[in-house]
Amino acid sequence: MPFILSLLLLVCGALLAVFAASALFFRDEINAARSKDPAARSLLEIVILYQGLHALLCYRVARVFFRLKLYLAARLVSQFGRQWTGIEIHPGAVIGRGLFIDHGMGVVIGETAVVGNNVLLYQGVTLGGTGIRKGKRHPTVGDNVVIGAGAKVLGDIKIGDNSYIGANAVVIKDVPPNSTVVGVPGRITRQDGKKIDVSLDHIHILDPLVESIEALQKRIEQLEKDRKTN
Ligand SMILES: CC(C)(COP(=O)(O)OP(=O)(O)OC[C@H]1O[C@@H](n2cnc3c(N)ncnc32)[C@H](O)[C@@H]1OP(=O)(O)O)[C@@H](O)C(=O)NCCC(=O)NCCS
Repeated sequence: MPFILSLLLLVCGALLAVFAASALFFRDEINAARSKDPAARSLLEIVILYQGLHALLCYRVARVFFRLKLYLAARLVSQFGRQWTGIEIHPGAVIGRGLFIDHGMGVVIGETAVVGNNVLLYQGVTLGGTGIRKGKRHPTVGDNVVIGAGAKVLGDIKIGDNSYIGANAVVIKDVPPNSTVVGVPGRITRQDGKKIDVSLDHIHILDPLVESIEALQKRIEQLEKDRKTN
């Protein structure tokens, strides 16, 4: 009986310590979860159940080993975090304050990625490289950026502050600040609060599928007009 009681006390103590440490060292991240996830109800829920927070906990530990050049230990912790949460953050990546990874599963953040402050990533986001060359090959994401579910941001590109990357977009070019980007390949649909008329946009090259659908749509409209006038 005393053995079970002391085991119970030990578990409760460990849980309390993790809880206190999280609340202390991850205040910005917890606040981000509270403000960005309408489903978040309590601090306890966020600390115990949010995989994004657990992934960041593993990342921070792995990052310490990485900075001490203990690369194998860093990767071990990082891979443990991946097994636990389904989120892979390379310990070489530089992550700002207040990152919130919602749902989390399938998120990959590459070795040379840089993530600014107050960023929101949904499940399935990749901040990845485009080849096998070494050096800076992953994106730099600015402050207050939101990257939608399944979006792939690839290469050494910059995503400007306050930008939105739509769900499932594939972004391979720099994105200016305050922009919304959707589609494959990603194209800007909104900048500084103003909608961008894609048909007048000669800077961003459209994908051939969209171009042919637009051409077909115009042709149908013309045919319908012709039919009405005849
Ligand atoms: C990109 C996004 C932020 C745009 O939001 P918004 O400001 O309301 O959208 P806009 O009005 O600027 O949309 C611009 C155009 O892009 C289209 N669009 C929006 N999101 C898109 C997407 N993910 N993929 C393709 N097209 C998209 C809109 O239909 C609109 O088309 P239209 O101009 O022909 O009407 C939002 O749609 C999005 O994808 N958010 C991610 C949310 C997410 O991943 N949630 C996961 C929860 S689990």
